[in-house]
Amino acid sequence: MQKVGFIFDLDGVIVDTAKYHYLAWKKLANELGFDFTDSQNELFKGVSRKRCLEILLDIGGVNATQEQFDRWMVEKNEDYLAYIDKMDDSEILPDVVKILNFLKGNSIPIALGSASKNARPILEKVGLLDYFDYIVDGNSVTKAKPDPEVFLIAAENMGLEPENCVVFEDALAGIEAANLAGMTSIGIGETDVLSEADYNFNDFTEIDLNFMNNLLNSN
Ligand code: BG6
Ligand code: MG
Repeated sequence: MQKVGFIFDLDGVIVDTAKYHYLAWKKLANELGFDFTDSQNELFKGVSRKRCLEILLDIGGVNATQEQFDRWMVEKNEDYLAYIDKMDDSEILPDVVKILNFLKGNSIPIALGSASKNARPILEKVGLLDYFDYIVDGNSVTKAKPDPEVFLIAAENMGLEPENCVVFEDALAGIEAANLAGMTSIGIGETDVLSEADYNFNDFTEIDLNFMNNLLNSN
C-alpha cells in the first residue's frame, strides 16, 4: 500500500459555519441598504473574504473607497468572530469524528486545506485541532480556490505526491482545485453542484469504513 494523506476543507465540511458567514454578510448588506439572500450566499462558498466583499458590493451596486472596503472587511469579520466565539463541539458535522478517528487509528496524515483565515480558532473552539498534522489556511496561500495552491502545499507538508492525496470539499471551487491538483476529490453536499467530484456524498454519515479502506488500498 502506498502512503496516502487526507485533506479536509473546513467550512461546510467539518462545521456548518456558512450560516455564520451568511448572517455577518447579510448584516453588512442591510447596513448598506440592500438585501442578501441565502441563495446568493452559495456564491460565497470556498471564496476568500476579500472576493466575497467584492461580490457583495456588486450585488448591492455599491462603490467603495479603499478605506471603506478595508473597514467593511474588518466589520464583517468581527461580527463573524462573535458567532465563532460561541461555538463548541456540538457544531461538528455528523460523523466527521468517526472519519478522523479512522484515519488517526490507521496512522494516516491529516491536513486542513481551507480558504479561511479563522481556521485555527474554529478548530480550537470545537476541540479538533489536535487531529490535524498540518493546517494550510487563508493565511498560508496567495491564490484562492479553484487554484490548487492550498492543496498542493498540504501535500508537500505531508511529504506526499498529489495523486496520493484525497480531498473532502463542499464547494465547487474546492472540487475544481482538488481535480486541478491531480488529487482524488470527494464532494460533501449536493451532487448536482459537485458533479465534478470523483465521489459524492450528502454528508459523512453516508461514508462507511469499507469505502475508506478501499480508498487507502487503491492509493
Ligand atoms: C471559506 C468559506 O472556507 O473561507 C468562505 O467557504 C469564506 O465563505 C472563506 O469567505 C474565508 O473565510 P474567513 O474566515 O477568512 O473570512
Ligand atoms: Mg467549504
